[in-house]
Amino acid sequence: MFIYKAGVIGAGAMGSGIAQVISFSGLPVVLKDTDMDRVNKGIDMIRKVYQGRVDKGKMSASEMDQKMKLVIGTTSYDDFKDCDLVIEAVFESMKVKHQVFQDLEKVLPETAIMASNTSALSISQIASAVKRSEKVIGMHFFNPAPVMKLVEVIPGLQTSPETVDDVVAFAESLRKMPVRVKECAGFLVNRLLLPYLNEAAYALQEGSAPAEDMDKAMRAFGMPMGPFALLDMLGLDVCAEVSMILYDSFGPRMKAAEILGEMHKANRLGTKNGIGFYVYDESKKADLKPIVDAIQAKTGVKGTAFSPERLVFQMINEAAYCLEENVASPSDIDLAMLAGTGFPQDKGGPLHLADGIGVDVVLEKLKEFSKTLGPRFWPAPILKRMVAANYLGQKTKKGFFNY
Ligand code: CAA
Repeated sequence: MFIYKAGVIGAGAMGSGIAQVISFSGLPVVLKDTDMDRVNKGIDMIRKVYQGRVDKGKMSASEMDQKMKLVIGTTSYDDFKDCDLVIEAVFESMKVKHQVFQDLEKVLPETAIMASNTSALSISQIASAVKRSEKVIGMHFFNPAPVMKLVEVIPGLQTSPETVDDVVAFAESLRKMPVRVKECAGFLVNRLLLPYLNEAAYALQEGSAPAEDMDKAMRAFGMPMGPFALLDMLGLDVCAEVSMILYDSFGPRMKAAEILGEMHKANRLGTKNGIGFYVYDESKKADLKPIVDAIQAKTGVKGTAFSPERLVFQMINEAAYCLEENVASPSDIDLAMLAGTGFPQDKGGPLHLADGIGVDVVLEKLKEFSKTLGPRFWPAPILKRMVAANYLGQKTKKGFFNY
């Protein structure tokens, strides 16, 4: 199926980023929100991205004008009536998403695809609200959408194989890298990324090291930004929401560090409102220490050690769980982390990294972390089976990959 015109619902950072990507590929895109103020803010964000390209000499001003003409702002569902594919990017409420999909289904052509950019909600549950549920699918972009190459393609229980193929082809036409992911809470990348970010949050609330030092250490490891700068960019409200969905599905291993909820409660949401772990607006400056002290008084846990392994081994362990559940293949898991989070290219992804370190070494370290830091480090069963069968990684020429 060829997509001649697309739509995006929700003109926030993700929705407008996705609309920019679509317009950049040369397709007209309808961008809808509930009022024109929000729509115009979204269009301004798109213009800013193009202006950046013009300023850097990557695009001419007239090319920018042509691309901007492809973006059609609206507050009405009627403008979707000739769209072949619409991506929903509204906030993470199942109730709101159900309403959006029902409204959308009424106006769209019968053949149109209805995709959701949800970060963690169930695609099958979203699809259950509409009649043409075989046309519903997850199409998950990464922040900032104009830059990050990955798009997770997540079929729900009802999604037809044709819809999956069409969305994979569409993502490729946007010059993105689609990876098919089996539906589970957090899908693939958030399921690996959140435990990593959560571990950084535990280390901070336990006084292991200041946020700046941990960010610096993770940049030295090769991540494009540190965990606290990333948490601030994603928004502490979004992260608290995704953490809850992960906990609900996977239990204690995903229990969110108390500080994430406390930051949300204190309205320290990150870059979007001027203060998160870092201060972006001097007028909002406030000390983090009282929050940390109160958590330490409550949990009694403090003075644990920080190391980059503490964070990265959370990612590796969750990657092993995902592999065990056939969420994606080993190469897709690594590729998704490179393209979706900027995981360092030279390390090849979390599973290649584990093969390089030695699966036996990873297993022993996870057992040690499990004793010293808590059972959230309990090793994925596949790691024990691999070690027992001598799948130790590069040193035995077989591990997650063959060498
Ligand atoms: N919008 C558009 N373009 C942007 C941008 C934005 N918000 N931020 C940066 N860019 C562009 C810059 O203009 C620049 O473009 P050129 O190459 O054309 O000059 C390029 O990206 C690189 O930017 P910078 O030089 O300013 O900075 P950088 O090299 O540090 O890159 C970054 C910035 C791309 C954000 C990088 O730090 C990065 O990859 N960070 C990791 C982000 C990440 O992990 N995202 C996934 C989060 S999980 C998620 O999104 C899922 C979810 O559901 C919660």
